[in-house]
Amino acid sequence: MKNALEQIRREAGELLSAAADAKTVEELRIRYLGKKGELTGILKQMGSLSAEERPVMGQLANQVREAIETMLTEKTDALRASALAEKLQSERLDVTMPGKVRPVGSRHPLNVVLEEAKEIFYGMGFTAVEGPEVEYDHYCFEALNMPKTHPARDTQDTFYITDDIVLRTQTSSVQVRTMEKQKPPIRIISPGRVYRSDQVDATHSPLFHQIEGLVVDKGVTMGDLKGILETFAKRLFGEDAKVRFRPHHFPYTEPSAEMDTMCYECHGEGCRLCKGEGYIELLGCGMVHPKVLSDLGIDPEVYSGYAFGIGLERIAMRRFGIGDMRLFYENDMRFLGQFL
Ligand code: DAH
Repeated sequence: MKNALEQIRREAGELLSAAADAKTVEELRIRYLGKKGELTGILKQMGSLSAEERPVMGQLANQVREAIETMLTEKTDALRASALAEKLQSERLDVTMPGKVRPVGSRHPLNVVLEEAKEIFYGMGFTAVEGPEVEYDHYCFEALNMPKTHPARDTQDTFYITDDIVLRTQTSSVQVRTMEKQKPPIRIISPGRVYRSDQVDATHSPLFHQIEGLVVDKGVTMGDLKGILETFAKRLFGEDAKVRFRPHHFPYTEPSAEMDTMCYECHGEGCRLCKGEGYIELLGCGMVHPKVLSDLGIDPEVYSGYAFGIGLERIAMRRFGIGDMRLFYENDMRFLGQFL
C-alpha cells in the first residue's frame, strides 16, 4: 500500500507538471482526489490493515493528499499567471503611439448656402415646401403657360420618363402645386434639384439646384418683390452687395425680370468671369401671370403675386468665389474640405 501511495504521488506529480491547461488539471484532480478517485480507492482498502499499520498508512495517505492538493493549487496558479502574462503581452498598448486620424466630414458648400438662404427667407416669413423631381409635364410646363409648342421650352429640354412625365427643369412646378392646394395668402420657398439635358461645362450641368419663391396675397407689388430680393442679396453677400433688375420674359410672369449682382471678380468693371458685363445673373422673377392665377382658381382681380427662381449654384459660386460649377459635383475632398 505504501508503494501504491508513493506511486500515486509520483504519477500525479509528473502528470500535473505536464498539464497545459485548466481542464487537464481539473481532470487530474478528479482522477486522484475525486470520490471514485485513485487515492480514495486506496483509503477504502485501509480496513484490511492491521491496527499498527493503519495510523501509519493513514498519515501517509494524508500527506499524499496534501501534496497532490498543493501541486494542483500551484499548477492552477501557474497556469493563471502565464495566461495573464500572455494576455498582457498580446494586448500590449503603446500609449505614446500617435492616434489614428479620423477625417471629419464637412457640409457641402451647396448645403451651406442653402441653409443660409433658407434662414434668410424664414426670417422674412417664408415657409419651405417640397415638390417631386419626377414631375408631370402639366406642372412643369403646361400650367405655367408653356404649352407643348411653346418656344420657351427649347431652353429647357429635359429627360422624358414618358410623354407626360419628365424630370422637372425648374422648381416653378411647385408654384402650381402650391396654388392648387392652398389659397392666398401664400408665402413659400421651395428648394430642390432640377434637370436639363445640358452639356457639362463651367456654368452648366444636367443636374442643378434652384430655390423657388412664391408670394400671393392682396395688394402684392413689384416693389415688394424687389425689396425682398435685394434684402436677400445683401444678407447673403454683405450690405455692400449691388443688384440690378433687367427686363426679361418668362411665360408665367408679367412683367418679368432677371436680377444680377455686381461681379465679385471685377466689381463691375467687366472681366472674363462676367463676360465683360460687370454683373452676374442670379435669378429670374416677376409678377405671377394673371392667367396662371385664374387657371388655378385665384381671382387676379383680387389677388396678385410675385415669384422668383434662384440658381443655388450661382449664389454659392458668388458667395465663395468659385469659378467652376463642376467642382460641386466631383467630390474632391480637397475642394469640399474648405467649407466648414
Ligand atoms: N424657372 C425659371 C428658370 O428656371 C426661373 C424663374 C423665373 C422662376 C421667373 C420664377 C420666375 O418663379 O417668376 O430659369
